[in-house]
Amino acid sequence: MADQPIRYGIIGAGVIANYMARVFTEGRGSTAVAISDVNAEAAAKLAVAAGGVKKIYADYHQLLADPEVDAVYIATPPFLHKPMTIDALRAGKHVLCEKPFMLNQTEVREVSAVQKTVPQLKVLCASSRYHGAGIALKARAMVAQRELGELYHVSYTQVTGAPKPGTTLPPWRNNPAKNGGGMTYDWGPYDLDWLSWVLGDLFRPRVVFGTVGNYFPLTPERVPPCLDVDGHYCAQIICESGLTILWERRAAEHGPARHTIELRGKKGGLDSYFMPMPEKPGLQHYAYVGTDELKTTVLPDAPPNWDDAIVHPIRELTAAIRENRAPSNTLEDNVRIHGVIDALLTSAKTQQAVKVVA
Ligand SMILES: NC(=O)c1ccc[n+]([C@@H]2O[C@H](COP(=O)([O-])OP(=O)(O)OC[C@H]3O[C@@H](n4cnc5c(N)ncnc54)[C@H](O)[C@@H]3O)[C@@H](O)[C@H]2O)c1
Repeated sequence: MADQPIRYGIIGAGVIANYMARVFTEGRGSTAVAISDVNAEAAAKLAVAAGGVKKIYADYHQLLADPEVDAVYIATPPFLHKPMTIDALRAGKHVLCEKPFMLNQTEVREVSAVQKTVPQLKVLCASSRYHGAGIALKARAMVAQRELGELYHVSYTQVTGAPKPGTTLPPWRNNPAKNGGGMTYDWGPYDLDWLSWVLGDLFRPRVVFGTVGNYFPLTPERVPPCLDVDGHYCAQIICESGLTILWERRAAEHGPARHTIELRGKKGGLDSYFMPMPEKPGLQHYAYVGTDELKTTVLPDAPPNWDDAIVHPIRELTAAIRENRAPSNTLEDNVRIHGVIDALLTSAKTQQAVKVVA
């Protein structure tokens, strides 16, 4: 019934599921009715946070067999995303899956093939397009309306700080077989999803030339937690339109954190950012007008809200189910995003420019 909440089963009761939990308690169209985790203690803790969930299953197949579950939120380590998403679709459930959606483009295509057999079911990957909220929307509208003129270059650089001494992470994050990789899989999908959302049809990557490097210990006390996986990447992406994207992310290095996104068009430039940073203007517009100096305008924007950004994917899937429409982040988007990551990793290995498989 239209006014009944969408009933979610949560698979994986770890860090991110606990952040997400409050969305099920706010009475905005979704409720959690079941949880599955191989760790009973984690499941019991999440059950409280998600509003007093009664049904806890050790095996996620039991959750998928529960007729009271309409949709699942998959928040397990990445190597489980494909089997869990496919099993959920085969069990007749809508799916929100955490990022990285899959471990490569082939897996996305496998999921897409299964979804085509059940077109009434929605699949959404938790993405970053909600992170800047109003900022990303406004930047997207400005690009679509060609307010910057023909866009010819985007520079996207994200440098995150060093981990605090003693930082620990679950072992799967340091295991390429379970995590895919490090930064490339942890943050790559977020970066590319933001770019794909803001650039719209201009985001049609054709060729990638890039490098990937591992983390290294900064000092004996400050050792990054993921030494076996990649910790920085830098790529030049050339799109169908000729638009070039310099895409870079680095972590745990001898240097300060830095987050810059620069969009440059033939009529104007726009600076923005990806993660909510309320202390910085969200959008700054630049243009030379006549003989004047460079004119800089801080544009008004909706203040970003990190809490809202985290829970937005559940709200988006819930709305897509209710309105019977495609979710904003589609399987086609994820085919493209994983195609770029695959091309980056091949390029880094071969030191050659690599064509993106569309
Ligand atoms: N931690 C974050 O800040 C964050 C943010 C955004 C997205 N993500 C993504 O969310 C996913 C989960 O990350 P996390 O940090 O919450 O991991 P986590 O290790 O904290 O939690 C994963 C949970 O999955 C459970 N699990 C493992 N195998 C299972 C199985 N077969 N059936 C049911 N449960 C199983 C584990 O017991 C654990 O409780 C990853 O894909 C990650 O990239 C994490």
